[in-house]
Amino acid sequence: MQLLIKNINAILVCGDQHTKGLNGSQMANPGRIDDAYVAIDEGIIVDYGQMLNCPDVRAFNNVVDASGRFVFPTFVDSHTHLVFHESREEEFVQRIKGMTYEEIASKGGGILNSAKKLAAASADELYDQAWVRLKEVIAMGTGAIEIKSGYGLSFDAELKILRVIRRLKEKSPITIRATFLGAHAFPAKYKSDRQAYIDMLTDEILPVIKEEKLADYIDVFCEKGYFTVDETRHLLAKGEEVGLKAKIHGNQLANSGGVQVAVEMGALSVDHLEQIGPEEIACLLNSKTLPVVLPSCSFFLGLPYAPGREMIDAGLPLVMASDYNPGSTPSGNIPFLLSLGCIKMKLLPEEALTAVTINAAAALELESTHGSISKGKLANLLVTEPMRDLSYLPYSFGRTNIDSVIINGTIQKSF
Ligand code: NIG
Ligand code: FE
Repeated sequence: MQLLIKNINAILVCGDQHTKGLNGSQMANPGRIDDAYVAIDEGIIVDYGQMLNCPDVRAFNNVVDASGRFVFPTFVDSHTHLVFHESREEEFVQRIKGMTYEEIASKGGGILNSAKKLAAASADELYDQAWVRLKEVIAMGTGAIEIKSGYGLSFDAELKILRVIRRLKEKSPITIRATFLGAHAFPAKYKSDRQAYIDMLTDEILPVIKEEKLADYIDVFCEKGYFTVDETRHLLAKGEEVGLKAKIHGNQLANSGGVQVAVEMGALSVDHLEQIGPEEIACLLNSKTLPVVLPSCSFFLGLPYAPGREMIDAGLPLVMASDYNPGSTPSGNIPFLLSLGCIKMKLLPEEALTAVTINAAAALELESTHGSISKGKLANLLVTEPMRDLSYLPYSFGRTNIDSVIINGTIQKSF
């Protein structure tokens, strides 16, 4: 057989083959086995358990002694904007000097700034930059990822991004899901005719997406100053007609009605949720829509954090994701996200880990292959540095504490 990891301090299994995600109080108990092993063959987890049941090491080509270390499923990052051209640190400095995110956006910065930069970049440049970011996040433990378009905002540039994502999908060792986010902002030339932009997205871009199978999901930035609830409903319905399930940016800057329209439209997830209250939590409880919170975005912009503790206490299956993008979250560092979840939203370390593994896998419909240490799932695993307790991971913020990342049973060096 391919690989045996033995003498592991503890593994966190995060559910079994049948777990669709853990809700509420289940999130604090993702299943821990002390003094454990994991056996891998042909890129798949074939066995795991306590060392006293460990198979004969002679049956394995490669044996790793993980004494003192923890092993987890790799993280799933269900919300990123990984394909962009150039960073936006000039806006970062403007915010330090007192401008708000909205003020910068209203002066042509923000998403429109990134769209201007991206229009000038070739597909090869975008691909090369995104590839570097992808390698970087895999080294920090990400084993499946979603990537959105949304910095194109024109027929050519949105399709350019989606085709770059397709190239990334073909070459990447980790699973990638693609999301069409043409409804990320209104380009300046459509400001006085919003419907013309929406028609371009639905009547011109969606047919090409369908034809070339360029996306798995459709997303809309349902927010004050961006897309209204009615526009969101219309765009999601058009997406559904070509087989795209919905994922929504909602309730980031204001209580936008994003949660309600997400639930009404049967969205897979509604993401951000900094501005929600008991009504939105109740609405999510009666739905299949997963709540995805993005605490690195709150950290970077100095905005309120989503009420993650309240959502779990209410019984929801909380998901955390990075939101990696050049404007609101220039980082895909999931270990840092674990620290923010614990420190800022009062999640327990086990809850934070559940939110970035099995629950995040469900937010990309990958729960049957990713997100837990289960027989038959992909052998996508993290081996930590030696640590006494798993709470050291979020406690020691700023470090990844990851010794190695295993993808499809292969220990990643560089690729
Ligand atoms: O998810 N909120 C909308 N979109 C991105 C940020 C966009 C930007 O500033 O470039 C987000 O935070
Ligand atoms: Fe986002």
